[in-house]
Amino acid sequence: MAVNQESLLKKYISKDQEKQTGQAPRRGPGGGPGGRNRGMNATGKPKAAKASVKRLFSYIGNDKYKLIIVLICLLASTVSSLGGSYLLRPIVNNLVAPDTSVQEKISGLLSGILLMVAIYVVGVLASYGQSRFMLKISQNALQRIREDLFNKLQRLPVSYFDTNSHGELMSRFTNDVDVIGEMMNTTIVQVFSGVISLIGTLALMLYTNVILALVVIISVPLFAKAGGAIANRSRKLYKSQQAALGGVNGYIEETVTGQKVVKVFNHEDISIEEFQVLSDHLQKSQMNAQFFGGIMGPVMGNMSQISYAVTAMIGGILCVLGKFDIGGLTIFTNYSRQFSRPINEISMQMNVIFSALAGAERVFDVMDQEPEAADGENAVKDGVMDGQVTLSDVTFSYVPGKVILNHISCYAKPGQKIAFVGSTGAGKTTITNLINRFYDIDSGQILIGGRDIRDYSRSFLRQNVAMVLQDTHLFTGTVMENIRYGRMDATDEEVKEAAKLASAHTFIKRLKYGYDTMLEGAGANLSQGQRQLINIARAAVSKAPILILDEATSSVDTRTERHIERGMDRLMKERTTFVIAHRLSTVRNANCIMVLEHGEIIERGTHEELLAMKGRYYNLYTGKAELD
Ligand SMILES: Nc1ncnc2c1ncn2[C@@H]1O[C@H](COP(=O)(O)OP(=O)(O)OP(=O)(O)O)[C@@H](O)[C@H]1O
Ligand SMILES: [Mg+2]
Repeated sequence: MAVNQESLLKKYISKDQEKQTGQAPRRGPGGGPGGRNRGMNATGKPKAAKASVKRLFSYIGNDKYKLIIVLICLLASTVSSLGGSYLLRPIVNNLVAPDTSVQEKISGLLSGILLMVAIYVVGVLASYGQSRFMLKISQNALQRIREDLFNKLQRLPVSYFDTNSHGELMSRFTNDVDVIGEMMNTTIVQVFSGVISLIGTLALMLYTNVILALVVIISVPLFAKAGGAIANRSRKLYKSQQAALGGVNGYIEETVTGQKVVKVFNHEDISIEEFQVLSDHLQKSQMNAQFFGGIMGPVMGNMSQISYAVTAMIGGILCVLGKFDIGGLTIFTNYSRQFSRPINEISMQMNVIFSALAGAERVFDVMDQEPEAADGENAVKDGVMDGQVTLSDVTFSYVPGKVILNHISCYAKPGQKIAFVGSTGAGKTTITNLINRFYDIDSGQILIGGRDIRDYSRSFLRQNVAMVLQDTHLFTGTVMENIRYGRMDATDEEVKEAAKLASAHTFIKRLKYGYDTMLEGAGANLSQGQRQLINIARAAVSKAPILILDEATSSVDTRTERHIERGMDRLMKERTTFVIAHRLSTVRNANCIMVLEHGEIIERGTHEELLAMKGRYYNLYTGKAELD
């Protein structure tokens, strides 16, 4: 099958370039992209680069004292290198002077060289100090960037993850942070020392010979122009390079996590082909970016050679005319070399700088996303939450304009079990996502314990709403740790008690190390049902007055399900439970069953009442659902 390259690249890469700051739009139905914001994209704009540089420096600026030491060391090493080479002037002049004796010449040479050695030794020590301290500064900055990024990630609303590929996001943590680190470790020092030595050399050149200095200075705008032109082009190319890298990582992540599906549908070859397209694209963007970054050095190098030759020629003529000393010419040509050296060095580092800036933009883009809206100032943060839940006239849409839940009202008393049933996509999970504020509602009100849920802090609210999500998830760690995730201060006994309620105890006991068995790869070594049982135990261990079970027992056999049901009923005696299940036998004993259709509650009542109604529930239960 031929792979449609364009749509593939669009899917995995151009998305990144379009990504904006501000609230990420939510995914549309069927998992496709919803309307993405456009317009604020800062790709490749110098303004964005400038802002990124400023922000990177603010991270470095935290280590003020170390930075001052680095600057002093830099200054010392540059001065020593410039000063050392200036000594050549008296040494050479002394050697070529016509009226000094051989003895004087030799002693002058020796003392001059000794002084040079001393100065250079100071320079070496200063360079050592500077690189030691700079390393510390950059590592600190990097650590802060990584932590800020992760902290932000923990604060982003659920909707952000709806629209961003995990691998691509992870690429920002790895590749993008890495390139920033590379720049901080070496390039920043080089740029600083380059600038200092540039200024120092210029001063010494002016001091040595103004005419020759002017010749060199005239060439500067030429350097700047050539450099600027290449830099502009490069910056854009590096941005695409980092984006392409993110795309490739996103694809890899998807394929690794979905490896079984790939195999089931014999998609290996197509995957390889698709990967090749993305990889080709990455290779091309890398080629372009590295090429442009790389030609900077040679272009600058050649230009400096020309400027070197011109100054040597003019200086020679001045010497012949007796307007300049040979010692002076020796150091001047040396300086003109030194003058262009930092320019060359910095331009050689351009590829690192540009990758880092592109990486920084991508990192800061995540940092600038809107976090979950802050809790109100008077938000209730502790106390006892009553398990009374009221939804009154709730309307909600993921994507503005596309209503998913329509005027939903329902009421649950503590100790009651409320069930939501209805066809796939009816909006059952969505209701539960609203109760714990993964998303905020458009209109209406959700009350818990008689209070609007927006009056509680999110963490307090979620502490009181235990959920077993439709997708199970286990972390790397022991079974014990995974269950304790539900309440960190639960004792071992409480964890075991919860596992018993969830009917997980028996199978956990049979694991090789019981509760201490490590679960790796998201619990890949367990059966789907067992993973669900651990997830239920995790919710059971929390003392939340409200429990939501979203298809929590869908992969568990019916006998075990009965056991869990009994366990949960005991646990939830004084609390409120919301149960979502397709297997209707699961919800038969609920106090109230809500039948949801297209985001509306179309029937409600107990199992018997609903059966007597002979409506939708009856049809679902008896398997007579009309095929519409
Ligand atoms: N993150 C999202 N962004 C945009 N739309 C979504 C999102 N999640 C779900 N939807 C849409 O909302 C509707 C209700 O989805 P929901 O997950 O609540 O269904 P459900 O009743 O739980 O279905 P199921 O029985 O399959 O679990 C669906 O049409 C779905 O396409
Ligand atoms: Mg669902």
